[in-house]
Amino acid sequence: MAGDEPLLARPTSEHSSEREYEEEDALLTGQRSNRTSTTHQRWREIGLFVWALIATVVIIVLATVVQHEHSVSHSRGETSGGWGKDGRPTGKRNMIFMVSDGMGPTSLSLTRSYRQFESGLPIGDTLVLDKHLIGSSRTRSTSSLITDSAAGATAFGCGKKSYNGAIAVLPDHSPCATVLEAAKKAGYMTGLVVTTRITDATPACFASHANRREYEDLIAEQEIGNHPLGRTVDLIFGGGRCHFLPNSTEGSCRDDDKDVVAMAKDNGFSYIDSRKAFDNLDIGTGVKLPLLGLFALLDIPYEIDRVHAPELHPSQAEMTRVALKALSAATKDSDKGFFVMIEGSRIDHTGHGNDPAAQVHEVLAHDAAFEAVLDFLEHDENEGVLVGTSDHETGGLAVGVQLTDEYPPYHWFPEVLANASHSAEYLQHKWFQWLREEGSNADLFTQAQYIRETLIEDGLGISDVSDEEVDAIIHATPLKPPAYLLANMISRKAHVGWTTHGHTAVDVNIYASSPQHAPQLVGNHENTEIGNFIAKYLDLDLEPLTEELKRKNIEMGQPHASAAVDEVAASGRNLDPDHGDLSTHGGVEHVAG
Ligand SMILES: *[C@@H]1O[C@H](CO)[C@@H](O)[C@H](O)[C@H]1NC(C)=O
Ligand SMILES: *[C@@H]1O[C@H](CO)[C@@H](O)[C@H](O)[C@H]1NC(C)=O
Ligand SMILES: [Zn+2]
Repeated sequence: MAGDEPLLARPTSEHSSEREYEEEDALLTGQRSNRTSTTHQRWREIGLFVWALIATVVIIVLATVVQHEHSVSHSRGETSGGWGKDGRPTGKRNMIFMVSDGMGPTSLSLTRSYRQFESGLPIGDTLVLDKHLIGSSRTRSTSSLITDSAAGATAFGCGKKSYNGAIAVLPDHSPCATVLEAAKKAGYMTGLVVTTRITDATPACFASHANRREYEDLIAEQEIGNHPLGRTVDLIFGGGRCHFLPNSTEGSCRDDDKDVVAMAKDNGFSYIDSRKAFDNLDIGTGVKLPLLGLFALLDIPYEIDRVHAPELHPSQAEMTRVALKALSAATKDSDKGFFVMIEGSRIDHTGHGNDPAAQVHEVLAHDAAFEAVLDFLEHDENEGVLVGTSDHETGGLAVGVQLTDEYPPYHWFPEVLANASHSAEYLQHKWFQWLREEGSNADLFTQAQYIRETLIEDGLGISDVSDEEVDAIIHATPLKPPAYLLANMISRKAHVGWTTHGHTAVDVNIYASSPQHAPQLVGNHENTEIGNFIAKYLDLDLEPLTEELKRKNIEMGQPHASAAVDEVAASGRNLDPDHGDLSTHGGVEHVAG
């Protein structure tokens, strides 16, 4: 062979593909590929042939096994899910809709590899979610190519696109009825289960209407039935108690002195506010509905933190199991089933915080809740369908990041995430608390020692921390608070990257109990099609209810003069978009340690 000819001059050569790989390697690594002598080449070809033969056999065997596993997993969900032979829904049926807020496709890869490492599982081990992937969703809103959770959930709730910040309201600031409201009116029982404030955008878009997502006081009132359509939610589990307490009460975050818990009780709700009361619910003989369970003033703690004191807050899977049992029991003698929305709300928050250690535990907690739903469907005597998706991706998560000018090696390190025992958010909280208490008079040396030992070594499990990293935390600013710096340490050491503290426009995954349960959602879809799917499955007509909301002049708070302003407000931050700081995320400037 003419070894000195330019490689690309002979694309038809029988060795071309091998050469191209060599060249690609050379280009990518900046190293010259080694040319081999002709004899070596011959032996190498024989070797390659044998290798290819073995690989082919292995692939055929694997394909057979995978095929088999597929048919097994399908036979598990072989029920029609409530779809009749004519393609229309029929009979008594339940709809469970799950939202993984802020979870993009990369979160799955991150979490899957983390779990394989942490539990010593084989390469082929996947999450429950992975086994139920059926499609992907396009997420843009009317006001931006990058949606927020409000516009995202309005697409699910109403089946319509709207502007960032809209809570079941259209761009013309008219209300749109939701699948939950329509389900209630059609005779279904309904529920909302979340791990953040129940007044946050996602749950709000199913049971309230507001021109801006910030109107959480108003949203709380509507959710418990101070609403022109009356009470539409039968079961509420989540956080956000502070919006239900009058401003004269400790822990309240309301702007007025309305006692929304008392209003809920007037509307018939039972009320619980602790894990203890949650555990005492009589799920054997049937929980009394309507039920309002608010287990935290704001968010339920991240799973990575919650597990250190599980007696304080229920997990997402625990809330899910109780909710399904309660709704199922409450519809036992009805010819209509239930609709429930269950959200892994705080995957999004780990993305905003760029905290990969907290994220894997949030995704695993959601995966466990997803499994709990599948388990319910498998054992329940009624037909039912589980559909899950995300409203958007958060953080621009990347598994693999270039930290220096050198061409990067191909790896990332789940062991760094496995070493962390707390979220960066928790550790920041602990730091501020220490500063207020014991540390208030501490000198810089003592402060540095606390950061090094308690926050970084014990909390993050990082042992090789530099003085600069500790110093940066002491001198942190509100724009780059200690939590961001701590999360950045973990990310860099794990070689996990982030492009933003906000959302991104990447398509997100759609999951279902089985592809046959949601054939309309197989493949790539607009997010509104998911809302329309729910309406179709439950056989709902939203239009008359939308007309009723308009006729009754539902109070939705002041809109901004233009959607553009709503959009900025919805971002939740007042960052000047031109004031970029890519170095934080590009990582090149952060080659410490
Ligand atoms: C509480 O709300 C009332 C209005 O409902 C208001 O007059 C009062 O100033 C508020 N108090 C505080 C401490 O914010
Ligand atoms: C994990 O923690 C152990 C003990 O604290 C430490 O020796 C090890 O270096 C840590 N591993 C990583 C990847 O940080
Ligand atoms: Zn978000």
